[in-house]
Amino acid sequence: MKKNQLQIEENAEKLAEAFAAHFIRLAEEAVRERGRFLVVLSGGGTPLKAYRLLAETSRRQIVPWQQIYLFWGDERYVPQDDAQSNFRQAYEVLLSHIDIPPGNIHPIPTNLPPAAAARAYAETLRSFAEAGQICARFDLVVLGLGHDGHTASLFPGQSARWDQLVITAEGSYDGRPSTRITLTPPAFNLAREVVFLVSGATKAEALHAARGEIRDVNRFPSQAIKPADGRVLWMVDKAAA
Ligand code: 6PG
Repeated sequence: MKKNQLQIEENAEKLAEAFAAHFIRLAEEAVRERGRFLVVLSGGGTPLKAYRLLAETSRRQIVPWQQIYLFWGDERYVPQDDAQSNFRQAYEVLLSHIDIPPGNIHPIPTNLPPAAAARAYAETLRSFAEAGQICARFDLVVLGLGHDGHTASLFPGQSARWDQLVITAEGSYDGRPSTRITLTPPAFNLAREVVFLVSGATKAEALHAARGEIRDVNRFPSQAIKPADGRVLWMVDKAAA
């Protein structure tokens, strides 16, 4: 299987459907083979369509939620019930509709000072590590792409700081909360699969650069996502492609 693949869907709706189907396939496979499915969800608007589809009766009934463990790739430093919280957005469209044990849901804490929250989350990730590893080996990491090239809260120009598993970051983007807590490439790159979900013409330039000839993780943070023993799948719609 190729380490880096591109899948282009007709439009945003088809993209969400394709992602939901892919999620279900991977979940079934992971649970069959390893008894659990560790997933990192992305924030941002793009995945919400797909999360909504997973919450629909026909899909949610076939997903093995009891064996699924949810984490987040980044969080905005706002209270969990704030409308801008990545956790809250996922809660509203997905988590509040599914039968998942509360103990399987691991949001990035925002009730501690940012640096302490990052340390606490790194501990959570460590507690899911396989023997000999420093971090959970995620079965699926979902990521988005900003029109400025950022992914999770890995913003251009900040790559020197991506050494801990979880760090604090500052980045202004579309008026969203700028203080963030984010996983870094060392955490993401243990994953079995990373899916970038990218939709809309405003992302075309960033997508082209991310997958282009010029390799520079400091300018194009998504290029730092290269699972050592896994693959990257770019699921995009035609407008972005
Ligand atoms: C966040 C994110 C971020 C997001 C991109 C794309 O907390 O904002 O996790 O990395 O994925 O900004 O966002 P959209 O999907 O809304 O374009």
